[in-house]
Amino acid sequence: MTFKTIDDIQDIHGKRILVRVDLNVPVKDGKVTDVTRIERVAPTIQELTKKGAKVILMAHFGRPKGEVVPSMSLSPIANSVEEVLDKHVHFADNCIGDAAKEAVEAMNSGDLLLLENTRFHKGEEKNDPDFAKALAENGDIYINDAFSAAHRAHASTEGLTHHLPSYAGRTMQAELEALEKGLGQPIRPVVAIVGGAKVSTKIDLLSNLIEKVDALVIGGGMANTFLAAQGIDVGKSLCEHDLADTARDIMAKASSNTCEIVLPVDAVVAREFKANAENEVVSVNAIPSDAMMLDVGPASIAAVNDWITKADTLVWNGPLGAFEIEPFDIATVSCAKHAADRSAEGLLVSVAGGGDTVAALNHAGAASDFTYISTAGGAFLEWMEGKPLPGVDALSKA
Ligand code: 3PG
Repeated sequence: MTFKTIDDIQDIHGKRILVRVDLNVPVKDGKVTDVTRIERVAPTIQELTKKGAKVILMAHFGRPKGEVVPSMSLSPIANSVEEVLDKHVHFADNCIGDAAKEAVEAMNSGDLLLLENTRFHKGEEKNDPDFAKALAENGDIYINDAFSAAHRAHASTEGLTHHLPSYAGRTMQAELEALEKGLGQPIRPVVAIVGGAKVSTKIDLLSNLIEKVDALVIGGGMANTFLAAQGIDVGKSLCEHDLADTARDIMAKASSNTCEIVLPVDAVVAREFKANAENEVVSVNAIPSDAMMLDVGPASIAAVNDWITKADTLVWNGPLGAFEIEPFDIATVSCAKHAADRSAEGLLVSVAGGGDTVAALNHAGAASDFTYISTAGGAFLEWMEGKPLPGVDALSKA
């Protein structure tokens, strides 16, 4: 995949640069509770402002569906951007029209401006060319640094590339390079770990992975569906019995693609879903009918860790067990630590993202040693499903 980066921009000084960032951050009582996404876009913003650009940030927040919803204003988030960057952030209460125009006209080189939520306009999600044009009026250059919104074909993620010279920001660049190493042109063997509750939400993802990886570890609640499809009694475990045919189909396709499916061989079972619930380790063939599997057992952990040792590349989405309640975090923590150690030694390229994955790896204290952790949710999953991402495709066509 080819795309232009900030290195390809001539004469940054004094240019009005529209930068699409993802500021869809968790907020509680008006306060941002996790600034990771802001920290991720800081390098692009700092580089551009230092080089004397007028940096104009565009972002969405929540799903206001084309209406002005005050609780979804980006204004409180401007304060967090200011804190993370230690730099004053100007704010315009509309991303197009006079408010935006006047705010941009008032900017000096090196200034930073945040425009109000792009999704307050219906044209954003419709990718309306007139709306994209109205956004483009305030910039000379467009940079997309929001991989996590690149699965949306919206005006600020796709449409703008038709109006302005377009480039990938540093975070987008890092993300795309990491993803290329993960599944695009990986060093083999490649192992994927996919966990999470439901097969139904990950059918496309599993179907794509079995064509690309050498081993696919299935954990979490999803594993129960695969075990049940093989005639194993999973007791009261979370299980989508109606997806037995789908699971069998995926297993058959995996064997014809020479992808080994790694399912749990033992289980940590309990009668209650709560922290420190009384539990025992049993073979998956001996799950008591009144118990549920809340984690994979030690023999399964050893098998996953063996694959991590053998692998040169690991792609990880979803926890192996109910990691949020102890002691059912043991498998996720053990395998995450092993992957982190191998990565720190330079023996493994490890890429993780989507949903609960970042929380699980943070919980394991493993996140900082992974080669790359994506902050993307839906975009990471669509990438794992092998789907084209409009925001990325538009950059490579631009
Ligand atoms: C995200 O939080 O995953 C992105 O910002 C995309 O948000 P969306 O699912 O509302 O498009």
